[in-house]
Amino acid sequence: MPLVLETDYGTPASASTEAVGLTIDGTRVTVPAGTSIMRAAMAAGIQVPKLCATDSVDAFGSCRLCLVEIAGRAGTPASCTTPVAAGMVVSTQTERLKQVRKGVMELYISDHPLDCLTCAANGDCELQDMAGAVGLREVRYGYAGENHLAEAKDESNPYFTFDPAKCIVCSRCVRACEEVQGTFALTIQGRGFESKVSAGMAERFIESECVSCGACVQACPTATLMEKTVIETGLPEHSVVTTCAYCGVGCNFKAEMRGEEVVRMVPAKDGKANHGHSCVKGRFAWGYANHRERILKPMMRERIDQPWREVSWDEAIGRVASEFKRLQQTHGVRSIGGITSSRCTNEETYLVQKLVRGGFGNNNIDTCARVCHSPTGYGLKATFGASAGTQDFDSVEQADVVIVIGANPTDAHPVFASRLKKRLRQGARLIVIDPRRIDLVRTPHVEAAHHLALRPGTNAAILNALAHTIVTEGLVNEAFIRERCDLSAFAHWAAFVSEPQNSPEAVGPVAGVSPDEIRGAARLFATGGNGAIYYGLGVTEHSQGSTAVMAIANLAMVTGNIGRPGVGVNPLRGQNNVQGSCDMGSFPHEFSGYRHVSDDGVRATFEELWGRPLDAEPGLRIVNMFDAALDGSFKGLYVQGEDILQSDPNTHHVVAALAAMECVVVQDLFLNETSSYAHVFLPGATFLEKDGTFTNAERRINRVRRVMAPRNGMADWEVTLAIGKAMGFEMSYGHPAEVMDEIARLTPSFAGVSYDLLDRVGSVQWPCNAAAPVGTPVMHAEAFQRGKGNFMITEYVPTDEKVGPRFPLLLTTGRILTQYNVGAQTRRTANIVWHEEDVLEIHPHDAEERGVRDGDWVRLDSRTGATTLRARVTDRVAPGVVYTTFHHPVTQANVVTTDYSDWATNCPEYKVTAVQVAPSNGPSDWQREYGEHARRNLRIAGAPVE
Ligand code: SF4
Ligand code: SF4
Ligand code: SF4
Ligand code: FES
Repeated sequence: MPLVLETDYGTPASASTEAVGLTIDGTRVTVPAGTSIMRAAMAAGIQVPKLCATDSVDAFGSCRLCLVEIAGRAGTPASCTTPVAAGMVVSTQTERLKQVRKGVMELYISDHPLDCLTCAANGDCELQDMAGAVGLREVRYGYAGENHLAEAKDESNPYFTFDPAKCIVCSRCVRACEEVQGTFALTIQGRGFESKVSAGMAERFIESECVSCGACVQACPTATLMEKTVIETGLPEHSVVTTCAYCGVGCNFKAEMRGEEVVRMVPAKDGKANHGHSCVKGRFAWGYANHRERILKPMMRERIDQPWREVSWDEAIGRVASEFKRLQQTHGVRSIGGITSSRCTNEETYLVQKLVRGGFGNNNIDTCARVCHSPTGYGLKATFGASAGTQDFDSVEQADVVIVIGANPTDAHPVFASRLKKRLRQGARLIVIDPRRIDLVRTPHVEAAHHLALRPGTNAAILNALAHTIVTEGLVNEAFIRERCDLSAFAHWAAFVSEPQNSPEAVGPVAGVSPDEIRGAARLFATGGNGAIYYGLGVTEHSQGSTAVMAIANLAMVTGNIGRPGVGVNPLRGQNNVQGSCDMGSFPHEFSGYRHVSDDGVRATFEELWGRPLDAEPGLRIVNMFDAALDGSFKGLYVQGEDILQSDPNTHHVVAALAAMECVVVQDLFLNETSSYAHVFLPGATFLEKDGTFTNAERRINRVRRVMAPRNGMADWEVTLAIGKAMGFEMSYGHPAEVMDEIARLTPSFAGVSYDLLDRVGSVQWPCNAAAPVGTPVMHAEAFQRGKGNFMITEYVPTDEKVGPRFPLLLTTGRILTQYNVGAQTRRTANIVWHEEDVLEIHPHDAEERGVRDGDWVRLDSRTGATTLRARVTDRVAPGVVYTTFHHPVTQANVVTTDYSDWATNCPEYKVTAVQVAPSNGPSDWQREYGEHARRNLRIAGAPVE
């Protein structure tokens, strides 16, 4: 398989619809107005030599290599900075130009080490290419004069080096950091000969503002900024386009390989979600695939206090099947169930739910989406008729006002955040609704117009107050409502939000936000042009998660912000395939495509194809499985790619439930926390080892392509098939493509999806069917999926989790950029240098009251449990609010979270826990014990333990 080569057009594409014709080197070419001569030349098949230009950033015009001559114009303008004009006649290869270019290259080369043969970029260096392209054969200036050849390398970043001796000061890196990433970590310091690239104030990269996205590395034309893996391994020889397995942005990458070894991951330019950009996780944090702690052989034990014993796949599968059959015979058909993973592919998830419904004969199937975005499914289905976000990411480029509520995109959805920041730098306005001062509130060249720093748990109240302002101040989009919405539902809702208890003046004191700020934000959103709402788990993981999602949908409808680019309701999905796992029928009450299991017609189509009668009764949700386990009626669980012990709330309850089961089967890459209570461990495969698809937050179905054989010997989908077969439920497929064909057959919104289509067009957003053969970027364009938009009543009901004298602070949780969820993957990469432990953010006022200083150990107590971690004293959180992440098992933030959950979906209320904070001497006894236990577990598995 050859290296997938991408063309560099030199300058970004022009969005103009006006066409301009010109002649370049005798060739007629027509391009959009605003196109550079350099890009127009590429369209005519002519490559003008260049160094400082690349098509991911605006042209700068500094290297003077791309000069051209234009008939009737004096001088030799730079083709990268000169736009085309109608009738222009351009020459790119005159004798004069050749001489000038040779002179320019001579100067560059005279200050550049001539170690091409041993340079890591040999064969992938634009400076080398350009020396050849301009025909440079000798350099008249020696190295005797002043040069930069002795400058020291900066190797502080774990993933790339900076070798200033090789820098040509083209500033592509600086512009990439500003324009593509939006971090502004790099500058050119000094002038003339003294000018050089600097990270921050002449710091090393590791100490600077750099977030290691790698955009500068990708933009660098020389070996100055270079991936360490390339330096160590050599240049790649072939590449495969696949999709990142971390967050719901769904970035496409070229996995660049040498044999079966990944050399580097390069974000794909034609990736429709990421357009050539990435974050530190997708680009660099893939080393966990080869981590020594990875479990590669199936393991079994009779009891959970026994050591693991490595066994063959046949023995492990046989044990799973015999145990599950025994449990069903003894305790009934509904005594076992399964949990699908949002980290696995659509095809794998589909097969697990098929195994449960068809093979286990019940609907006891749930997914980790239960604990994150299940309220999105419920709320958007009730209002719009489709359980998914309404837009594509490109839509943000046309937004004028953006609400970000309960989301922290710069950390959790970084590539989308970069695109949003770009739009904000162009002038779009921002409203942040979040208890914490997230980075977007103020970041280089971006400042939110409003930050509503509400008390955790008051989203619904604030959203109602925004709607109250819009309705009572006459800012409603009446034409949209008349044409597109259910009028009686609207009238009912308008009367409800107009009630005095929903006014900003009534809500402000409850939510801790000034009424004027609420009114200001509402007016801006209703009158500022295209309004788009982006939200995350800070909305859904509440006892009123579904209420808040519906309130967001109401807000979009009342302002007419649905059905076109630049607007919409956009859930920022956490995991790579959380959208897909829901789409595939992972919920106990729904088949793929969100059709209820009690629908006889739908059930009949599945029964016919699967050859089994199917249960019409919805099965157990995760939380009900735990309760039933403690009651003694639920005995066996197959968990694929999900660490429920660490990620589900009220850890003690989960432990008790798992310990009460007789057969827990865990399939994962590493011995996760749940596996401490497992009887069978089935090793999983990484995304690099599998074929399939992920569906991102835009409903975009992206191909995942295998770049190496599964190190554990079996792809995850093959394991599920084997369990089915051993239980007497034969599922037969030769390749995941055939699974997708079955999904398409059974699921109307996927009817047009096939691997052939995806290979042809790259990716598609569902619905993809006869009516939309290449997918649907913007939903509800003409009419809502349910017909008329449905305004839902969203009464604010305070959570039962109340602060009081014992627990006076509110804890809320979130993620940071470099770690991912429970950290199973990212903790096993060099990303650990940025986040060694979870810390507790606490306001200076609350810290002082408790005698807590920055860096002190503190004990965090709630009604359900306690843990110990270090404090970070910061005013990012408001007084009365504390915040932590949940990436490290030894912190176990979920020990303190409660059993409260969303009224509609049981999504846990992770974001609101009443707590107390007190100084502590260090980790608690159970944390020390836990550390020992984890080490013992690894030793038992034969894994090396540090
Ligand atoms: S890695 Fe990203 S954030 Fe860091 S300097 Fe380069 S472009 Fe900027
Ligand atoms: S580090 Fe690379 S991209 Fe940046 S100025 Fe130097 S040569 Fe250009
Ligand atoms: S933004 Fe998300 S999908 Fe993209 S590279 Fe980062 S983690 Fe992967
Ligand atoms: S490429 Fe045009 S001036 Fe450098």
